Amino acid sequence: MDMCLKNKIVFITGGSRGIGKAIAITLAAHGAKIAFCGRSKFDLDATSEILRQKGAEVWTFQADVSKPKEIENLIKQVTAEVNHIDILVNNAVTSESAPFDQLTDDMFRYHIDVKLMAYIRIARLILPYMKSQKSGRIINIGGMTARVVAPLRITNGVVNAGIANFTKQFSNYAAQYGITVNCVHPGYTVTDRVMQIFEREANESDKKLDAIILERTKDIPLGKLIKPQDIASAVLFFCSPMAGMITGQSLAVDGGSGDAIIY
Ligand SMILES: NC(=O)c1ccc[n+]([C@@H]2O[C@H](COP(=O)([O-])OP(=O)(O)OC[C@H]3O[C@@H](n4cnc5c(N)ncnc54)[C@H](OP(=O)(O)O)[C@@H]3O)[C@@H](O)[C@H]2O)c1
Repeated sequence: MDMCLKNKIVFITGGSRGIGKAIAITLAAHGAKIAFCGRSKFDLDATSEILRQKGAEVWTFQADVSKPKEIENLIKQVTAEVNHIDILVNNAVTSESAPFDQLTDDMFRYHIDVKLMAYIRIARLILPYMKSQKSGRIINIGGMTARVVAPLRITNGVVNAGIANFTKQFSNYAAQYGITVNCVHPGYTVTDRVMQIFEREANESDKKLDAIILERTKDIPLGKLIKPQDIASAVLFFCSPMAGMITGQSLAVDGGSGDAIIY
């Protein structure tokens, strides 16, 4: 199906690994040109090589989005090099799991800076370019902790709820410029990083990797683990003409695992 992405320029934060990488590969497969950032040069190079081998035009930028000054420099570099941005995918995160009594102010602040504030700061800096084009798509990757309790992921929950709220509030402002803003909430998604966690769990317990994977699958009503590609498909939809009249929405890609009823 033609998703009308040929030669569109996409900027993805955290496009070098996991869900961001799957989004980069998926959008590139539909003809988009891909700019993306991350901190590790090794991962940036490895993913850009994969994209180039598939025939995509690619730009990489090394930056830490938890730092406002680095974001300013990053967006200056991106806009100078790629000229304009049709689609922004806010995705980068690093997070830690800990029970409430071990979460310090600094841990909350870091998580807010690296994800919620970075999404807001990057959207703010890219907005003038989209405004002048009178079009644009912004997709914020949130997380199901916005909607369901996750005792070891309270910082994620606070941040992802903020992202869902920012998505709706910002969409209301951006609509006048022909820009849509939507959010995708991944459920527990098996990226390489998550697979390493499963492997560590298996090594540190008497359970086999297969048993751990089966346990995780049981939590998902559709009976399959969620893959990065599943999240990328939802992003592709929001980038496509099919989603032209959809804005301010948060879509869960969770295999039915979120118990909350959202009207
Ligand atoms: N996987 C899941 O189960 C799951 C569930 C719910 C929500 N999500 C959301 O999905 C998004 C992607 O998660 P993921 O699981 O794909 O994560 P991941 O595999 O750990 O990849 C994170 C990406 O962000 C980049 N990144 C991390 N910190 C950064 C920083 N300070 N500055 C710039 N780039 C940074 C990483 O590259 P570097 O480390 O090289 O910087 C990497 O490219 C996140 O918003 C996450 O909250 C994921």
